[in-house]
Amino acid sequence: PLARSFSMTSLSGVLPQWDEEDLPVDDLLLFEVAWEVTNKVGGIYTVIQTKAKITVDEWGENYFMMGPYYEHNFQTQVEACEAPLPAIRGAMDALISNGCQVFFGRWLIEGSPYVLLFDVGGASGNLDRWKGDLWDSCNIGLPSQDHEAGDALILGSLLTDRLGDAPNVIAHFHEWQAGAGLILSRARKIPMATVFTTHATLLGRYLCAGNVDFYNNLGKFDIDREAGERQIYHRYCLERAAVHCAHVFTTVSQITAVEAQHILQRKPDVITPNGLNVKKFSAMHEFQNMHCSSKARIQEFVRGHFYGHLDFNLEKTLYFFIAGRYEFSNKGADLFLEALSRLNYLLRVHKEDVTVVVFFIMPAKTNNFNVESLKGQAIRKQLWDTAQGMKEKFGKRLYEALLKGEIPEMNNILDRDDFSVMKRAIYATQIVFHPEFLSSTSPLLPMDYEEFVRGCNLGVFPSYYEPWGYTPGECTVMGIPSVTTNLSGFGCFMEEHVSDPAAYGIYVVDRRFRSAHESCSQLTQFMFGFCQQSRRQRIIQRNRTERLSDLLDWRFLGRFYVHARLLALSRAFPDKYEMDPMAPPKAEGFRYPRPYSVPPSPSASLHSTPHHSDAEDDDDEDEPYDEDEEAERDRMNIKTPFVLGGVPGGR
Ligand code: UDP
Ligand code: G6P
Ligand code: GLC
Repeated sequence: PLARSFSMTSLSGVLPQWDEEDLPVDDLLLFEVAWEVTNKVGGIYTVIQTKAKITVDEWGENYFMMGPYYEHNFQTQVEACEAPLPAIRGAMDALISNGCQVFFGRWLIEGSPYVLLFDVGGASGNLDRWKGDLWDSCNIGLPSQDHEAGDALILGSLLTDRLGDAPNVIAHFHEWQAGAGLILSRARKIPMATVFTTHATLLGRYLCAGNVDFYNNLGKFDIDREAGERQIYHRYCLERAAVHCAHVFTTVSQITAVEAQHILQRKPDVITPNGLNVKKFSAMHEFQNMHCSSKARIQEFVRGHFYGHLDFNLEKTLYFFIAGRYEFSNKGADLFLEALSRLNYLLRVHKEDVTVVVFFIMPAKTNNFNVESLKGQAIRKQLWDTAQGMKEKFGKRLYEALLKGEIPEMNNILDRDDFSVMKRAIYATQIVFHPEFLSSTSPLLPMDYEEFVRGCNLGVFPSYYEPWGYTPGECTVMGIPSVTTNLSGFGCFMEEHVSDPAAYGIYVVDRRFRSAHESCSQLTQFMFGFCQQSRRQRIIQRNRTERLSDLLDWRFLGRFYVHARLLALSRAFPDKYEMDPMAPPKAEGFRYPRPYSVPPSPSASLHSTPHHSDAEDDDDEDEPYDEDEEAERDRMNIKTPFVLGGVPGGR
C-alpha cells in the first residue's frame, strides 16, 4: 500500500491541487524531534502542534514525535499508553534499564499523535561522558555553565543511544536544541534519512536584537567572531553542524533562507512555510459573531480597568494589540510605540471621535498574587464550556442520525478528537497558573489567546527580526486584520501570493528599504487609515481577511514537508528511493487577485475601502453587499500560476 493520502477537497478550490508523491509509508517510520513537543515555548510549538493532524493523516501509527519530558506537561497533555512497535518498546526498555526515564503516550491534540518523551534532567549524570562523545565525534565542546546546551546534548544522546536500531527511519529535527541528535546519528553512521529545519539562526536573532543593520550587511559579518563575542560559539557550532549534517536542510521562509546562507553557510534545499490547522465553521460568518462576543468580553475588562474615568464611547473604541516573546526591538514594539504616539497626535488634530485601546501581550517577569482565589472559578467555567460544546455536538449528530431514521451507535457518536478535548479539559484542572501567556485562568483578563485575538480589531506586529511570525497568520485565519512587515517570513509570503494584501487586511510595513522614521510614518498611516474606516468597512474587510485562510492551511502547505522528506530519502537511500534532486515540489503557486470591489490603483485600496460607502454608517450593516459574490468573482479572476516556494538543489 502506498501513502495514505490527505485530501484537499475541503479547501476552497482556489488553490492549486497537488498530486501527492507516493511514499511507501507503511515500510517507514517518521520521527519528528523538537524541544517544543508538548512543551509550549513560542512559535515552534505552534508548528509542531498544528501540523500533527495532517502528518497523522499521512503516516498514521508510523509517526512519532519526540522531545523532552516535563512532568506537568505529560500529566496535563498526554494520555500514557504502551508503545505499539517492538523496535520502540525495545529502545525504551534498554534506556530504562540504564536508569533513564522515557515516557510514551498519545498527545491530546487533534490527530492524537504518539509522543516519546525523554527525562533530560534525570539523565544528567551521563552528561560528562556524552560531552566527551560529542567532542570525539565532531570537536564541539560545551561549557559547563550552559545548561540549555547541555540539555540539548542529553536529549540528542538519549535519542541516538537506542533508537538508531529502528529500521527505515526518516528523522526530522527542528532547531539547534534538537540538532545534537542529528549530529550524533550521522557521526555514528546510523542509517536514517535526516531533515533539519531551522526557524531562525541563533546569531541572526542576537545580531538583530543588538540594533545591527543586519540585512544590509549579511555578507560582511565575521560570523565566528560575532558568535564568540556573544558567548554562543558552541551553540552556533551545534546549529551549524546540524545544518551541514542533514540530508535535507529547510527553513520557514525565503528571507530566513538568505540569512541561513550567510550565517550558517548552507542554502536551504526546501522552504517549508508554516501553516495552521484551519477550522471552518458551518455558518460562513460565524467568525464575525465570535468577534462580536469576544469583543464584548474585552469591553468588560476595559470598563473595569478604566472604572471611574471611562470618558470615552466604547461603541467607538477600537482594540489593537501586539503579542509575542519579549524581544522588544526584534518584535517591533519600539516602532509600534513611536507610531502610537504619532497616531494619537493625528487623531487629536483631525478631531476623530474614535478611541484606540492597545494591549501589549508580551510575557515578562511578573509577581502573580491573588491567583488562587480566582483560579477555581475560571477552571469551573472552562469545564462548563467544554461540556456545553460536547452537548451541542452530541445533539447535532443524534439529530442527524434520527433524521435518517437511524438510532446511532452511542459509542461512536463522538470521535477520538472529541475525547481528546474532554480529557484535556479534565487534565487542565491540574494546571498551575502560568503568567506567561494569556489564559482563561488569568485573574486580570480571563480569556485565552484565541478568544482575545478574535475580540480585537487589529493585530500590530511590526517585527524587524521574524523568520515567519505566527501571530499575524493566526489573526488572518480568524478574520482579524493585522500589520506585518517585509522583514517577516509571513509578510513576504503574503506579498508574494496576494496582489493587494492591504485590501485583504494584511498591511505590510516596509522595514527593508526605508529608514526607521519612514517605516514608522507608514505604520502610523496604516493605523490612522484603519481608524477612519466605518464599522461596515471593517466588517467587509474582515470577510476578506478570512478568505485568505486556505493559503495558510497545512492542507495546502504540508506538501513542502512531504517534499523535504522524499528528498531526504532519495539522498540517504538512493538505491531505494529515486528522485530528481532538482525537482521542485509538485505545486503550482498562484496569486489572490485584488478584491473585486476595490478600485484598480493600489494606493486607492490601501485602507481596503469598499468604494460604495465612505460615510460613518454604523447602522447600515445590512445594506446590500454580497461578499460571497465578491469572493466568487475573485475566484474566477485568479491568474498568473507559477511554481511556489521551494529552493531546489543547493548541494
Ligand atoms: N501566543 C500564545 N499566547 C499569548 C501570546 C502568544 O499562545 O498570549 C502564541 C501565538 O499563538 C503564536 C506564538 O505564541 O503561535 C508566537 O509565535 P511567533 O511565530 O509569532 O513568534 P515566536 O515567539 O516564535 O518568535
Ligand atoms: C461583527 C458582528 C456585528 C458587529 C461587528 C463589530 O461583524 O457581526 O454585529 O457590529 O462585529 O465590528 P467592529 O469592527 O466595530 O468591532
Ligand atoms: C521562531 C521564529 C518565528 C517563527 C517560529 C516558527 O520562533 O522567531 O518567527 O514563526 O519560529 O517557525
